[in-house]
Amino acid sequence: MIQGPLYAVVPAAGVGERMGAGFPKQYLSLAGKTLAEHTLNRLLSFAPIEKVIVAVSDDDPWWPTLSMASHPRVTTVTGGESRARSVRNGVAQALMDGGEDAWVLVHDMARPLVRLSDIQKLLDACDDQGAILALPVVDTIKQAADGHIDKTLDRDTIWRALTPQLFRAAALYEALGEDLTGITDEASAMERQGLHPVLVAGHSDNIKITVPEDLPLARFYLARQFEAEQLEVGRFEVGKVEESGGL
Ligand code: CTP
Ligand code: MG
Repeated sequence: MIQGPLYAVVPAAGVGERMGAGFPKQYLSLAGKTLAEHTLNRLLSFAPIEKVIVAVSDDDPWWPTLSMASHPRVTTVTGGESRARSVRNGVAQALMDGGEDAWVLVHDMARPLVRLSDIQKLLDACDDQGAILALPVVDTIKQAADGHIDKTLDRDTIWRALTPQLFRAAALYEALGEDLTGITDEASAMERQGLHPVLVAGHSDNIKITVPEDLPLARFYLARQFEAEQLEVGRFEVGKVEESGGL
């Protein structure tokens, strides 16, 4: 468990080149809301998060049009030329707001389907070295050399990194440093410092919406999450009737 104020840092300054929508992918619509609104709704409904710090490009005309941009628990900072730079700017803001005790939960704006139960799991499992949501791989993994197989890796030791990733803000800021080359997630910056963050098994519906075919998949996962939620509510109601002796 973590002690100290918790901030979400959301990098959202990408251009969505692989999506090819002509505008940043977080403003695409999913079931009547933008991806950005889905992501931020989930983070804002997780009570332990004091503030959500969003890193957006200075010349992003869409962000200020979302009502969430002026939400009292949302702070906007300037994004950078790389994801890592955007994250660093957000972590700097968390340090300014929350001081040395602050923790940051870094989450891609492009992952609108993260489950609050997984965020709670991450908080519960986290130790001093931090923790990330991840998934064990299911395929056999080959290492390539010149387009041919060099060798087969031991699948049991390989995980795919997801977000959120949770670290003490000061430690992550120091680990990111000035040299951000090769830093594709926060954990890799910590690893460069010799640290070993905890791997917490997440869910495969926490996809990073990247290419056009991810949108129908996201629609499917969202509907499935909604059905599961309804089922939970249904069970609860049956329980209530049972208690009162009605069934
Ligand atoms: N991101 C960011 N600053 C950047 C680049 C990316 O804050 N300079 C953010 C994106 O907005 C996204 C997250 O990092 O929420 C994950 O990045 P990715 O999926 O690569 O998004 P894009 O960079 O927008 O997409 P692409 O690489 O296809 O252009
Ligand atoms: Mg990118």
